[in-house]
Amino acid sequence: MSRPIAAHIDPDALAHNLDAVRSTVAAAGGSPRIWAVIKANAYGHGIERVLPGLHRADGLAMLDLDEAIRCREAGWVGPILMLEGFFETADIAWYERYHLTGVLHHDDQLRMLRDASGRHPIDVFLKLNSGMNRLGFAPGRYRMAYDRAQELQRRGVLGTIGHMSHFASGDNAERVAAVVALFDRATEDMPGPRSLCNSAACLGSPRQAARTDWLRPGICLYGATPFEYQPSAAELGLRPAMRLSSTIIAEQQVQAGGGVGYGAAFVADRPMRIGIVACGYADGYPRQAPSGTPVAVAGRRSRLLGRVSMDMLAVDLTAMPQAGVGSPVTLWGGDGVSVDDVAQAAGTIGYELLTRLTSRVPVSVGAWEA
Ligand SMILES: Cc1ncc(COP(=O)(O)O)c(C=O)c1O
Repeated sequence: MSRPIAAHIDPDALAHNLDAVRSTVAAAGGSPRIWAVIKANAYGHGIERVLPGLHRADGLAMLDLDEAIRCREAGWVGPILMLEGFFETADIAWYERYHLTGVLHHDDQLRMLRDASGRHPIDVFLKLNSGMNRLGFAPGRYRMAYDRAQELQRRGVLGTIGHMSHFASGDNAERVAAVVALFDRATEDMPGPRSLCNSAACLGSPRQAARTDWLRPGICLYGATPFEYQPSAAELGLRPAMRLSSTIIAEQQVQAGGGVGYGAAFVADRPMRIGIVACGYADGYPRQAPSGTPVAVAGRRSRLLGRVSMDMLAVDLTAMPQAGVGSPVTLWGGDGVSVDDVAQAAGTIGYELLTRLTSRVPVSVGAWEA
């Protein structure tokens, strides 16, 4: 028998979460189209595995050319937005061939386009740096960039020119409103579709989201919260798209004063029964998760004890006489343990845990069967 760890991807949860974004924004009076953000191998879930669940998205957004090509090869015919645009002139031919929509955020990209053939006009979104200071033209340079893009459009090199920006604090409604006002000013009088709003802004500022043409939610589609742990994904009506599960492969009786795992980072203060789970940091479970991090055993919430090793971790079975070798374990994504619970305990975010699942974990797609 192979090692019992596994991840399960639930297409229904993805579809449900996409619908949840749509209905939240619809309730605020808008019906923008949605770029489902599937960068980083669909936040660790696997591009090909999430496409069936996200088939009702209007477009897909990512940044690696090879991921875009995988989407086309998997049969996706809708729009694909490349969030960082092309990195070198040679990329442009791939945009033409695979009909990719680019983001233009830098003068160099405009320069690269000067030599494009113009045989297949490329649709683009011009990106405004609205204060995050990561990508985009500063407000004072945005019109110049737009004028140059229009020139390229007249030559047939560019197709539609849209406008986009990204929120540094999408979870803060006041800051979102301020950025939207800045964006509106910078793009005033410029025709073309607008794209704003990551998950936090879609769910936290739905009235702003309702005014844009294209939303760009990512993490919420996978059923994790875009906020700082609260409100939780469950409170937002989201369902986990990934369940990481394993099994107890050994049991130990530990006497009072006995240590658990490397460095005896946990020491029993009374006789305890410990279960050893086939999951470690080489599977993507965070090594920094401390004792007390929630882990579900046989459907009930227990806790991690001691340091996470490369291939194993220990859980407390003391109050669970029915649990033992062979009992199912949920590390996240079910039985009351969310990826955000684990992330919070480990001092990180759900995004990081999901994208760090390692390739040795077998992944299956479909409804979860215990
Ligand atoms: C430009 C852009 N738009 C949208 C998203 C989606 O963000 P989230 O996963 O927080 O919804 C990201 C993710 O980082 C992004 O970089």
